[in-house]
Amino acid sequence: METVTLNNGVEMPMLGLGVYRVTRAEDCIRAVRTALDAGYRLIDTAAVYGNESAVGRAIAESGVPREEIFLTTKIWVRDFGATRTPVAFSESLERLGTDYVDLMLLHQPYGDWPAAWRALEPEVAAGRARAIGVSNFIPSDLERLRSFASVPPAVNQVERHPYIQRPELDAAHAADGTVPEAWEPIGKASPELLRDPVLVALADKYGKSVAQVILRWQVQSGYVAIPKSTSAGHIAENIAIFDFALSDEEMASIAGLDRGRGRRPLPRWLMGLAVRAIPVRQTT
Ligand SMILES: NC(=O)c1ccc[n+]([C@@H]2O[C@H](COP(=O)([O-])OP(=O)(O)OC[C@H]3O[C@@H](n4cnc5c(N)ncnc54)[C@H](OP(=O)(O)O)[C@@H]3O)[C@@H](O)[C@H]2O)c1
Repeated sequence: METVTLNNGVEMPMLGLGVYRVTRAEDCIRAVRTALDAGYRLIDTAAVYGNESAVGRAIAESGVPREEIFLTTKIWVRDFGATRTPVAFSESLERLGTDYVDLMLLHQPYGDWPAAWRALEPEVAAGRARAIGVSNFIPSDLERLRSFASVPPAVNQVERHPYIQRPELDAAHAADGTVPEAWEPIGKASPELLRDPVLVALADKYGKSVAQVILRWQVQSGYVAIPKSTSAGHIAENIAIFDFALSDEEMASIAGLDRGRGRRPLPRWLMGLAVRAIPVRQTT
């Protein structure tokens, strides 16, 4: 497993398991246990995924020492606010069955996220988060954050795969030493992406799957990747990317696949209303 050192000195694995839409507790527990058995040490959940309790149970049952695991969760938009954010933080810790997370993210840049960030900052000194960061922030959000933050974001978790490469974020991340993390890192395994001729040729050359080539590209370009899977075969496959390397020319050929279309279909005020309406429902 390769790791990256965050801007506060904390080490983070470059590859982990995401559990978005893994809503049944038994599926989530099985996936996390399988991943930990396979050598994963980074698990990515969120309050709004409804499966923090299942993640916590899987970690407890795994026998892997808590301090070996890098656990990320996220505060949902409805819980943004000076008073509400610390309460939501405590609720996440309780569901996860732990007294700290390795990384706490603000899930979306909507609502009063500046108040939520100010509420997160003391959590590092308090020992409840080893690092704090953001998700789905674009350069103007990061600039606004920089204007008032006393702790720079350690991580920005964003949508990224070979067709949506997000080069516009590079300068803002570099300014704060923010490590980028890719959600939907294999493009939800869309048939179009998995059959892309450039990627298929590289997979054939290295005797790897297209998913492995994409994940290798993510890690080699500095992005932490958190593919979701509930399949034991895919979980094992996705971590087997540290025994080969893409050349500079091959990285450049994947760079050429970028279609440059980020996903922000609705105006921000409308999205803000919509995401605030989504309740944090714990199904597990
Ligand atoms: N911050 C945010 O706003 C945000 C948004 C979305 C996601 N995320 C995080 O990012 C994680 C990953 O994103 P995602 O789940 O949307 O998309 P993804 O990881 O790109 O794709 C997941 C899909 O790919 C399949 N898959 C996994 N490994 C495969 C392989 N080796 N070969 C073929 N198919 C494979 C999975 O099916 P199987 O289960 O059958 O393997 C699943 O259908 C989430 O779980 C979540 O933790 C964050």
